[in-house]
Amino acid sequence: MMMTGDWIDVGALGEIPLRGARTIKMGAGGEEIAIFHTSGGKVYALVNRCPHKQGPLSQGIVHGDAVACPLHNWRISLATGEALGEDEGCVPTIPVRVDAGRVLISRIAMLTTLAAA
Ligand code: FES
Repeated sequence: MMMTGDWIDVGALGEIPLRGARTIKMGAGGEEIAIFHTSGGKVYALVNRCPHKQGPLSQGIVHGDAVACPLHNWRISLATGEALGEDEGCVPTIPVRVDAGRVLISRIAMLTTLAAA
C-alpha cells in the first residue's frame, strides 16, 4: 500500500477477481475496507460491514453492481452502500478510481469515513 497525495494505492486491479473482492485494513482501529470488482469492470470500495448485522460483504456474491450479504442475503448497492429492495440501511462507500491498472482510494474520504464509523 502506498500513499501519494490524496489517493492511496491499495494494489493492482488484476489482483481482485471479477465478481469478487479483496479487503484491506485501514485506520487506527484496523477497519476493513472491501474493494469490489464487478463483471462490468467497475470498481467500488465500501466499509466491509453489512448495515444489517455487520456481515462481511466481501464474502458475498456480486451480481451486477450489488452484493448479496453472505449472512442473510440482503442486497447492497455497491455504488451507494444502500440496502436494496425492502431492506433499509446503508454502509459507507469510499471514492475509488483505477489508474494504470492500480486501484486508488480517496485518502481524505477514507479517513473521514473511518472517523465516523
Ligand atoms: S448481516 Fe448482512 S444481511 Fe444480515
